[in-house]
Amino acid sequence: MVETSSAIITDRLPEKRLYVVSGNKKQSEDIKRLMMSFYNIDVFIDYSDALKQIEVNRPAAVVVDDFVPPLGGEAFVGFLRNGDYGKKVPIVYAYSESTAGSVEKFPYQDSVIFLRKPCNAGELASSISSQVSSRIEGEWEEIEPVQKSALKKTLQTFNTIATLIEEGSPVPYENIKSSCIPLIEAVKSGNFKDLLGAVKHHDNYSYVHSLRVATLLTLFGFNLGIKGDDLMTLSTGGLLHDVGKMQIPLLVLNKPGKLTVEEFTIMKGHVNATIDFLEKTSDLPKGVLLIAAQHHEKTDGSGYPHGLKGAGLNELARMAAITDVFGALTDRRVYKEPKTPEAAMKIMQSSPGHLDQHLLSLFQNILLGFAMV
Ligand SMILES: [Fe+2]
Ligand SMILES: [Fe+2]
Repeated sequence: MVETSSAIITDRLPEKRLYVVSGNKKQSEDIKRLMMSFYNIDVFIDYSDALKQIEVNRPAAVVVDDFVPPLGGEAFVGFLRNGDYGKKVPIVYAYSESTAGSVEKFPYQDSVIFLRKPCNAGELASSISSQVSSRIEGEWEEIEPVQKSALKKTLQTFNTIATLIEEGSPVPYENIKSSCIPLIEAVKSGNFKDLLGAVKHHDNYSYVHSLRVATLLTLFGFNLGIKGDDLMTLSTGGLLHDVGKMQIPLLVLNKPGKLTVEEFTIMKGHVNATIDFLEKTSDLPKGVLLIAAQHHEKTDGSGYPHGLKGAGLNELARMAAITDVFGALTDRRVYKEPKTPEAAMKIMQSSPGHLDQHLLSLFQNILLGFAMV
């Protein structure tokens, strides 16, 4: 995505707020750490305070602990569902072994997802996001099967990665590949536009961006005659290129306008975080690592993290940089409307030292062929 310090200026602030309602400080800190790249998080150690705040500022979702003071999670959910402001707020209810029996008889099942403690990052992310984006994911049922399969499988993979990062475990590359098979099939058959559109309003922006880059990169490669394992490298490389962002706070990731020097340093750290994570997997193709490592490098050497230039830039990474910037400019964000493909292309052509202009013109021709610019 576009993360230069002169990123898009807007006056609208992001509203992606998650309330964590738990008297257990360690648990709240854990959830905060696991979810910091997805949400701006407020912690309440007493649900009375959370109820007051919900009247003022409704969150995207609430994670509540079964033992939260003063009267426990079930009482809090009751107040929420019977009040004027919290009727429809999605709830993730974290329960322990001792209250597992009461979960089945829980009186407020509507928009409540139950998670057994301790919750891992993937479970939390997918539970919250499936509720917040339930309408969007429901609409995926209506689109053509191969595109639906591409969306569902890549989303599942993406949520699993959140847990693997947390555990410090390697990525099972076979699983990543199998989730990209329907994506590649969709591109090969020319049936990929619905999936690009269907994902735009999903709550998990990291996933949205990565899926769109994976699709555009596959499209780019396929139309340049890249096949087989190399096409798979582009597809999986697109999906994985930014996974290190799961360790960057949303306040930085989603900040409208100019990042401070300090924030930009944090942002740039996502490249090395991605590489540190991907290097745990021994059978990952080198091209995937190169895409992740070099997608923010620029042809004139002004990119990051290494300031590589000219021939020092890998060809696949040059392609990834183009689809990454195009994807970011045309993505819908909480705080900005998407640029049109034509406007995005103009912006990309106006800084010739940044992107490989020969590859960019090839990419533009491919998009023209699909009436996408
Ligand atoms: Fe990106
Ligand atoms: Fe990136």
